[in-house]
Amino acid sequence: MIRFFFFSTIFGDPCGNSREVIEVSPFPEGFLWGLATASYQIEGSWREDGRGNSIWDDYSHYWGKENINVNGEQRCNVDKCHTGDIACDSYKQWNRDLALLKNTNVKTYRFSLSWSRLLPYGTEDLGVNQYGVEYYNKMINDLLENDIVPFVTIYHWDLPSEVQNIIAPGGWVNSSISDIFADYAEFCFRAFGDRVKNWITLNEPGIFVDQGYHEGIMAPGMKGHMLDARFNTILAHVKAYRRYDSKYRATQKGQVGITLFSMWNEPETNQENQLAALKMELDLGWWAEPIFGSGDFAPGLKKMIADAGKNLPTFTDEQIALNKGASDFFGLNHYTTRIIRACNSCEFELEEVECDSWPTTGSVWLRPVPWGFEKLLEFIHKRWDTDKYPLYVTENGASSKDDGLQDLNDQFRVDYYKTYVSAMKRAMINGVNVKGYMAWSLMDNFEWARGYTERFGVHWVDFNGKIKILTN
Ligand code: GAL
Repeated sequence: MIRFFFFSTIFGDPCGNSREVIEVSPFPEGFLWGLATASYQIEGSWREDGRGNSIWDDYSHYWGKENINVNGEQRCNVDKCHTGDIACDSYKQWNRDLALLKNTNVKTYRFSLSWSRLLPYGTEDLGVNQYGVEYYNKMINDLLENDIVPFVTIYHWDLPSEVQNIIAPGGWVNSSISDIFADYAEFCFRAFGDRVKNWITLNEPGIFVDQGYHEGIMAPGMKGHMLDARFNTILAHVKAYRRYDSKYRATQKGQVGITLFSMWNEPETNQENQLAALKMELDLGWWAEPIFGSGDFAPGLKKMIADAGKNLPTFTDEQIALNKGASDFFGLNHYTTRIIRACNSCEFELEEVECDSWPTTGSVWLRPVPWGFEKLLEFIHKRWDTDKYPLYVTENGASSKDDGLQDLNDQFRVDYYKTYVSAMKRAMINGVNVKGYMAWSLMDNFEWARGYTERFGVHWVDFNGKIKILTN
């Protein structure tokens, strides 16, 4: 039984730091404590054993003429021109990863499948890479032998280049992507579903769409496609879920869910209550309401998008019926909180701010605010019912900046986890049905456009050639 102290914030002033230590209480038996990673961030071996390219290989390797600055220096898409070519070398060093997992005593390991390692050209018809199948088979079998539950993400952002460029040009913008994704998901159910009982279809569709297809700051670097690409992610998830329902659930008896990213949006004053609620709708409700709620976008979201002069795609009645209830659990990735303030000149008439008093981390966007986690969990429960859809925290964690030194002093991270886990426990006491918690991440890894400059691991990695992992 794990025991934690937990803290509560005295609500009122969102920038206040007051905390009180309250009681100690145990977690339920069977609570799934775990660690999480994703294929592109750790595997490396990008050209080995028949793996196909993904949009992240292309994005991290690409520097076009427009990316040369006035001094003739390369400006890469990723900080310091880092790539995932080697990353944590996990493709070759699974035994090391397994040893780390055993050593931390976790009950579950959340990892993702590399689509282009399994299907180098994106679809099963164009060829299956047996080396990839064997790699994941070994991981799954070893985990089960060691009583560690595999929690498998089918898609964590590494779309095969062949899909992005040839099969469904434009990738997530192309309406055929939902069927192509469902076929890939079905391949995964068929290949691994006899042993994998916990599936996550998509990791954070909001982040990979908005940053990769709208703002152009992550792979594949496209711009201006928020609404259509977001819409396709819902259809893709629902089709994969329904495929499991109709063909695999009866024999494999697993659960399939989706992982959504959400900050907590706290109104700056009571006047901003409605704006903060709308922001939650845009960030989280976009997916959660169709899947865990009515099957359709919420009326408030429809109005918000129309008021902003944009065209929200519409679901057919048949799609609404299929969307509704298309998940067995609610996967949540949560890291931080924002204060919502009214702003007439801003998009959607709101702006996000942070309190100066909040601590900082190695990522500019991430400020530890544990009470925000508690409020978010309670909000999700009230709105979408975690008794009906049990909640798994599939990521939570904090970063340090890489300063070139071996830094094993993790007190700030220990504090982050203590206070966030305490906040979660408090929400559980208040009725939120949380079944598991997976910390991000097992080890420092390729932090997307930030490369290796930000470290999220509970194990420190020496990336300078040797890929040594150090623990304190
Ligand atoms: C999440 C993402 C992870 C990881 C983490 C830390 O959005 O799913 O892959 O990078 O953020 O930034």
